[in-house]
Amino acid sequence: MDKIVIIGGNRLEGEVVVSGSKNAALPVMTATLLSSGKFVIENVPELRDVKTMANLLKIIGADVKFSEQRMDIDTSNCNKFEAPYDLVRTMRASIYVLGPLVSRFGYAKVSLPGGCAWGPRPVNLHLEGLKKLGADITLDQGYIIAKAKRLKGSLIKFDVSSVGATGNIMMAAVLAQGTTVIENAAKEPEIKALAEFLVKMGAKIDGAGTERLEIEGVDKLHPVKEIMIPDRINAGTFIAAVSVTGGRITIKKSNPDHLTFVLSKFQEAGVKFKFYNSDIIVDAPDKLKPINVTTAPYPGFPTDMQAQWTALMSITPGISIVKDTIYLDRFSHIPELRRLGADIQVENNSAIIKGMRELKGAAVMSTDLRASASLIIAGLAAKGRTDVLRVYHIDRGYEKIEEKLKKLGAQIWRERI
Ligand code: EPZ
Repeated sequence: MDKIVIIGGNRLEGEVVVSGSKNAALPVMTATLLSSGKFVIENVPELRDVKTMANLLKIIGADVKFSEQRMDIDTSNCNKFEAPYDLVRTMRASIYVLGPLVSRFGYAKVSLPGGCAWGPRPVNLHLEGLKKLGADITLDQGYIIAKAKRLKGSLIKFDVSSVGATGNIMMAAVLAQGTTVIENAAKEPEIKALAEFLVKMGAKIDGAGTERLEIEGVDKLHPVKEIMIPDRINAGTFIAAVSVTGGRITIKKSNPDHLTFVLSKFQEAGVKFKFYNSDIIVDAPDKLKPINVTTAPYPGFPTDMQAQWTALMSITPGISIVKDTIYLDRFSHIPELRRLGADIQVENNSAIIKGMRELKGAAVMSTDLRASASLIIAGLAAKGRTDVLRVYHIDRGYEKIEEKLKKLGAQIWRERI
C-alpha cells in the first residue's frame, strides 16, 4: 500500500498536461464490444480503472494492448459475456458492458455493483431502460442476467439525469430494431464523446450532448480509431491546487468549454484565467473569497469537483456552503479534512465551511477517488507534513499526480508502506 507525503506551503508554477478523460475512455472501451475487429483509441489515461476495464474486456475475449496512452482493442474473438463480481466490485463502471453485450450477443451476465464509499448508487435506470428495449432481466445470486433475441427501439424517459444509464441504454439502442428516444439524457461531455464514437462506428444518433437522444438502430457497426477528450475533472483539480498554494500554472491539452461553470465559480472566488486554444493559464489570487456551490448535472457544477472545492473553501476565510444534489452523502472527505484543522459541519447534503487561514499537516485517510484529491489539495496548503494514506484510490483517476505536482514545485513524494 502506498502513501503520498506532502510538505505544504510551496507555490505552484509551470505547465501541467491534463490526461485523457477517464469517464469518456471507460464507456468508449465497452462500446468496442458492439462490433468485431480492431480499434485504436489514443489519449487514453494510464489509470487503475482503465486497466481494470481492459482486464474485463480480456475476460470477455477481446485482445487489449495498452501503452503510452494508446489502446489497441481487437474484439474479433469475444466469447464470454460475463462481468464477474470480484472485478465489478472494484469498479462500478464495469456495468457499462451490460448494454453492448446484450445488444450484440443477446446475453449478458453482469455482477450487480457493490456499494462504494458513499451510496447507495442504484442501477435501476439501467435495468428499467433495458427492459423497455425488450430485454428479459432477472437477478440471480447478485448477478444481472440480461437476454434478448433482438432489442426493439422504445421511448425511455429517465426521471433523473444519469451518466451511466444514458451511456448503457444508448449503447444498447444502436443495434436495436427501430428507433429509440431517450428523454432527460445526460449531457456530460463524456456521454457526448461516447455518442460521437458510436456515430463514427456507423450508429445513427441525433442530439448528442443534449437531453433528448434519438437513435435509429442499425444492423452492424464497424471498428474505428478515436482520440479521447481531455479530463475536465483533472483540469479542475489542478486549478484548485494552484488556488490554495498561490502561483501561476498553465494547464495544457484541456478543453475550457467543458468547464464553463466551474471556471466561473473559481473566478467568483478571485482566480484569474487566460485562454489560448487548449491551454488554460491560471493566476491564483493572494486572497480568495468564500463562494457557495451547489452541484448539478452538466453543465452545472460537477459533483466530482465537490470535494476539491470543499478543500479550497476550508482555507478561505469566511463562511461558504457546498451542497451536493447528486450524491446526498458524498462527504467522507470531511472527517479527514477536520484532522487537518478544517472547521466544517455537515447538515443533510450540505457542508457548512468556516474557512481559516491555515491548516496543519497530519496523517489522513483516502476513502474514494475525489476525496483523495481533496486531501492532497488541503495538504498542499497545510503547514507542515501531511501523509495521505490508501492512495490506490487516487491512482484510479489521476495519472502520476504526485509527479505532476512535484514538477509544478510542490514538495510531494510517494512512499511504500
Ligand atoms: C458517473 O457515475 C461518473 N462515473 C461519476 O464519477 C460521477 O460522479 C457521476 O457520473 C455523476 O456525474 C463514470 O462516469 C465512470 P449517475 P454514474 O448515474 O454514471 C442516480 C468519478 O469520480 N441513479 O450519473 O454511476 C444516482 O444515485 C466518478 O470519476 C439512479 O438513481 O452516476 C445519482 O444520484 C464517481 N439510478 C444520480 O443518478 C440509476 O440507475 C447520478 O448518477 C443510476 C443513477
